[in-house]
Amino acid sequence: MNNFAITPDDRVLVIGSTGFIGGRLVPELFKKGIKLRLLVRNPSKLSPSLLKNELIEVVKGDLLKNEGLPEAFHTIHSAYYLVHSMGGKSIFSNREFVKADKLAARNFVTAADAAGLKRVIYLGGLGEMGKNLSEHLRSRAEVAEILASGKTRATILRAAVIIGAGGASYEMLRYLVERLPAMVCPKWIDTKIQPIAVRDVLAYLVGCLVNPETAGKIFDIGGPDIMTYREMMQQHARAKGLYPRLIVRVPVLTPHLAAYWVDFVTPVPSGIAHPLIEGMKNEVVCHENSIDRYIPIRKTPFPEAANIAIEEEKEIHGTIES
Ligand SMILES: NC(=O)c1ccc[n+]([C@@H]2O[C@H](COP(=O)([O-])OP(=O)(O)OC[C@H]3O[C@@H](n4cnc5c(N)ncnc54)[C@H](OP(=O)(O)O)[C@@H]3O)[C@@H](O)[C@H]2O)c1
Repeated sequence: MNNFAITPDDRVLVIGSTGFIGGRLVPELFKKGIKLRLLVRNPSKLSPSLLKNELIEVVKGDLLKNEGLPEAFHTIHSAYYLVHSMGGKSIFSNREFVKADKLAARNFVTAADAAGLKRVIYLGGLGEMGKNLSEHLRSRAEVAEILASGKTRATILRAAVIIGAGGASYEMLRYLVERLPAMVCPKWIDTKIQPIAVRDVLAYLVGCLVNPETAGKIFDIGGPDIMTYREMMQQHARAKGLYPRLIVRVPVLTPHLAAYWVDFVTPVPSGIAHPLIEGMKNEVVCHENSIDRYIPIRKTPFPEAANIAIEEEKEIHGTIES
């Protein structure tokens, strides 16, 4: 058996299980009978059913503070790295996310190497390195490099906006569309993107773990549709029965101003909106599709992904207006 193949006795560590992606990945892995351990900063953020589940181990720890890592990595076969440090209520409260994300990844590598971790699977961002790449997307790529620099074999998945209820980038755009019949936007509104449904992302994340041939590889992942942010917002409006929205491109609207505006109109705080908006100047489309050879799935078209996200949102929160 290949050293990277997982057996029923192996345990897998998930870091980021209280987040948008990690929170959805854990039940998928559990359904497949994979033994899990979760490293969390605040266990009370996990659902009571997870905390009561005797088959899922929970370790309290923090990548940045380097706490709980030896305990979390002990006898672990593979780990998922689904973490970033963007956030905070204001643009200025968390300008350090780039440094923080590097430190967190370095702490991960040190602990993983010490424990003999075999594989790490990381979900990062699309976008090509170059001086125009935003701080956010550059940071995602730097984390990928750090994770791949240790002894552990890294699988890197690179995605653009993920469509699902609770994903920060999509939430920001959909709240704008749903709350504003007309809006002004900077020139990023016409940047090309290749969004992906969250269920497709989960299929790839699980697929990479169960297919050892994906160890050590980098994959661009995306849905079947390439569009602009403007088209994505209009398609979301269509799915919500709000089409068309008036979206006017203006020559000057700085990411700072746009982030404050997003903070005002949506529940996404400016500390996360700012790096995300800055990243919207960069085209994020797949440049290769080798993932299809290893994990062939039906790629969810954008309108279907948007409808699923709208239904999920209703289940979680009722309608936005309520
Ligand atoms: N959402 C998207 O549209 C999208 C698109 C492309 C790529 N991605 C990538 O997908 C990954 C997951 O993103 P997400 O949207 O799920 O983010 P998220 O919802 O903000 O979740 C981030 C997770 O990281 C955890 N975390 C942060 N700092 C930590 C630390 N120091 N130690 C331990 N855990 C820490 C958070 O824990 P707490 O609950 O304690 O804060 C949370 O569980 C990221 O790498 C992101 O770049 C996301």
